[in-house]
Amino acid sequence: MLADVDENGVRALAEAIIAEGGTARATRADITSIADVQRIVDDTVAVYGRLDVAINNAGVMDGGGTDTPAPLHSATDGYLRRTIEVNLFGTMYACRAQIRRFIEQAEGGSIVNVGSVTGLVGNPGTPAYVASKHAVNGLTRALAIDYAQHGIRVNSVNMATTETPMFARAVDAVLAKRAGAPDAGNMVRAGGKSAGLIPRNATPWEQAAAILFVASSEASDMTGSLVVSDGGWTAF
Ligand SMILES: NC(=O)c1ccc[n+]([C@@H]2O[C@H](COP(=O)([O-])OP(=O)(O)OC[C@H]3O[C@@H](n4cnc5c(N)ncnc54)[C@H](O)[C@@H]3O)[C@@H](O)[C@H]2O)c1
Repeated sequence: MLADVDENGVRALAEAIIAEGGTARATRADITSIADVQRIVDDTVAVYGRLDVAINNAGVMDGGGTDTPAPLHSATDGYLRRTIEVNLFGTMYACRAQIRRFIEQAEGGSIVNVGSVTGLVGNPGTPAYVASKHAVNGLTRALAIDYAQHGIRVNSVNMATTETPMFARAVDAVLAKRAGAPDAGNMVRAGGKSAGLIPRNATPWEQAAAILFVASSEASDMTGSLVVSDGGWTAF
């Protein structure tokens, strides 16, 4: 069951999976909507009979439009609010709906929240994103503690630069700031690393592999883990 606020995108993904011989259903959902996240769980149970694993991957690095990341003194309300709303509240609402179902099924369950290296260390010029991803990791640990007694594992996977549309937009934003702003360089100055130990960006496939392992019963001893799949970004 695939859910995304981008209806065309999620339908195209489901079609691609089916074309390769897989099984998939797509639904449009906004994870900041409590009703939508409940519907994802209900639809999954209606179609597949149960919920086994949940991957909470939806996230934003900005508020959309002109609400782009900026150091706090110059950050817009829209950037601050929307980033926290999607990344923290959206993930929290989703986890709540998933955990309620897991408790009802009484057979445990597995949740993987998608964090970021910015949920483990700081990063320049993007305060709400950094705060939201640290919050996702705090939430992950808190839920692991509260629901271990129900056999529910809750972990996060934390990546560095991975070649997705979000990363492409981040590069564009950095280049635009470098070109125009009087405080040019804020996104890449103090604390900004240009690379990890593996000198290339990750692919989405590498992150999917890490997420799938943590989600699966192969990782049956892992809960409350903040897993890194970051090319060594946080090693130094
Ligand atoms: N790409 C990177 O370098 C990188 C690094 C660290 C962490 N991450 C995290 O990985 C996850 C995936 O990011 P990505 O790089 O694929 O970004 P992306 O922007 O390419 O994809 C994010 C997806 O989330 C969806 N989405 C956004 N808001 C939503 C909402 N309210 N409800 C439902 N869906 C919503 C978007 O439509 C999009 O399909 C995010 O949580 C992101 O923070 C990405």
